[in-house]
Amino acid sequence: MKKPAVMTTAAGVPIADNQNSLTAGPRGPVLMADYQLMEKMAHFNRERVPERVVHAKGAGAYGTFTVTKDITRYTCAKLFEKIGKQTEVFVRFSTVAGELGSADTVRDPRGFAVKFYTEEGNWDMTGNNTPVFFIRDPLKFSDFIHSQKRDPATGRRSATMQWDFWSLSPESLHQVTWLFGDRGIPASYRHMNGYSSHTFSLWNAKGERFWVKWHFKTQQGIRCFTEEEATRLAGENPDFHRQDLWDAIERGDCPKWTVYVQVMPEKEAETYYLNPFDLTKVWPHKDYPLQEVGVLELNRNPQNYFAEVEQAAFEPANLPPGMGASPDKMLQARLLSYPDAHRYRIGVNYAALPVNKPRCPVHTYHRDGHMRFDGNDGGAPNYQPNSFGGPVDDARYKEPPLKISGDADRYDHRAGNDDYTQAGNLYRLMSREERERLIGNIVAAMTGVPRAIQLRQIVHFFRADPEYGTGVASGLGIRMAEVPGIKAA
Ligand code: HEM
Repeated sequence: MKKPAVMTTAAGVPIADNQNSLTAGPRGPVLMADYQLMEKMAHFNRERVPERVVHAKGAGAYGTFTVTKDITRYTCAKLFEKIGKQTEVFVRFSTVAGELGSADTVRDPRGFAVKFYTEEGNWDMTGNNTPVFFIRDPLKFSDFIHSQKRDPATGRRSATMQWDFWSLSPESLHQVTWLFGDRGIPASYRHMNGYSSHTFSLWNAKGERFWVKWHFKTQQGIRCFTEEEATRLAGENPDFHRQDLWDAIERGDCPKWTVYVQVMPEKEAETYYLNPFDLTKVWPHKDYPLQEVGVLELNRNPQNYFAEVEQAAFEPANLPPGMGASPDKMLQARLLSYPDAHRYRIGVNYAALPVNKPRCPVHTYHRDGHMRFDGNDGGAPNYQPNSFGGPVDDARYKEPPLKISGDADRYDHRAGNDDYTQAGNLYRLMSREERERLIGNIVAAMTGVPRAIQLRQIVHFFRADPEYGTGVASGLGIRMAEVPGIKAA
């Protein structure tokens, strides 16, 4: 074994004794002059950064993305420029509602965040393992998350809060049906798909824009836990998914996902029967089939959990040339929310941390700020324009213009929106046994919730599919004749 280095203070001064505090006599008291003791205690007291307000518990790994099919007709993004091209990635998977120490095997969506270190800057595909979401207006995000987190009075999670919000927000029904179905508890991070969920855009060298949704299909196959298996594992090994990912990579069983894209030409968005920017809806594959793009493989574990996984900072706004956002209201809010969260959680210079740092040169005029640890661009000019050869903007990277119109107003996103057809389609796609498990899981979760909330939610299930609503009602011991609003539906 290598001879250990001599231990030092943070200032590099060698330490003679790390076992015994400096005291007046063998029984103490401790002397203020024991700087080493003070430094150790003070640093320890500051070890925690705030946990992510959502998606706090997670696991991450590095890997590669390899292009397998040509999509240069849709995008000039360099990472797709030729078949066989490889780009390094860092991926973080997570649960949403639980805290940093919570159990992995819970019923919850999973985060599926991929940072592609491309030669023209990072692309952060900050998605989930579900193709849709609970809400479609970002003004509702903090309300929604509050309803899923802890009750302000009891400090416990509350089924009443959850179903109260969902029953008053019918746009959640599609995602709720997904969540309480089999896929609501993945058997591991390796056995689930990833989705951008939002519509993003691609643009090509001719300046043509396409609306796209990204899909990452697991090559390990979909595997899920039943409620009973998950509950047992949550007690036996709360870090089950974290360990599974780590162990698989250590033994060389590197998980892979085939990456696909659904593509809608820009013009078609105006006439398509669904609002393509509504995050509660999928685009049926018969209208927009999946087109293969490449393969994502995870093959390297991080060396330090805090430095690489906890300090990882993903941003839906990180989109290299050839890629763009879309008018999706939720996405628009996310473009600003994430960097704001990172500045609070890990500091203004978060983008310079090794896990977040692009693998291409970075030339900004940002200077200073807490913990600026990289030389701060030395004596280079710190304003632009300048006459001293500082970096300049370049119109070659300009995104094609996007036509938008409309009166500024607060439009009712629920008015005239069909929240039931796609949720019902998902229900009807399930086998008899899957439907039974779905209804059983919902009944278990709604038991004990005030009757008025149960009745309100049953109406939504019924509108999606009468059998669905009747099944939940009967499981809760409610006769359909008691449910107000069914006849009117
Ligand atoms: C994490 C906000 C919707 C996926 C976060 C964080 C915030 C946030 C503040 C914590 C970031 C951090 O501290 O590092 C929002 C807002 C949303 C929204 C305001 C809607 C308006 C969504 C949707 C998805 C998503 C629709 C998926 C399609 C994620 C993921 C993470 C995350 C994967 C964890 C990233 C990581 O691993 O570090 N979100 N979110 N979020 N969100 Fe969202």
